Amino acid sequence: MKNLLPLIFLIVLSFSPSCTSEDETPKKEPPPPPAVTVPFPEAMYVQNGCASCHGIAGNGRGTRTQVLSTSRIPNFQDKSTYIYGSSKEAIAKSIKNGIPGTYMKAYSHMRKSEIDAVAEYIQKMQK
Ligand code: HEC
Repeated sequence: MKNLLPLIFLIVLSFSPSCTSEDETPKKEPPPPPAVTVPFPEAMYVQNGCASCHGIAGNGRGTRTQVLSTSRIPNFQDKSTYIYGSSKEAIAKSIKNGIPGTYMKAYSHMRKSEIDAVAEYIQKMQK
């Protein structure tokens, strides 16, 4: 019985998939889908809900019309409509601290690098 073991081992081995390569047809894998790259700051502007109030173009015409009907909201494209400053630093401060007493909440949970990237993104909307 003991010397049968190597034989059993060989039989098992001959049935394992790696040994049946002659009748194996290569499987056709579908090509990977094209990569979609969303610019990092833009993604954050959308994911954090900024766009829902401020609008995707920053013009203050977001989809949250209920909130917007009772609020003053800046047009990020027009520097004269910012109350708290339109520099990158000022924008970052508005994001981090929010505007107390308004719908603009403090995004203090965001990393500094994230806030800076979004602030820069908003600044690029300025005309
Ligand atoms: C629920 C709606 C809402 C959301 C969400 C929101 N905001 Fe605001 N935001 C406002 C309103 C309203 C004001 C104007 C507040 C005021 O001064 O009356 C404002 C003001 C600001 C200001 C200051 C503009 C100024 O007048 O100087 C900046 C900058 C800003 N938001 C950026 C952002 C960014 C970036 C996000 C996302 C991380 C964001 N907001 C999310 C409603 C929103």
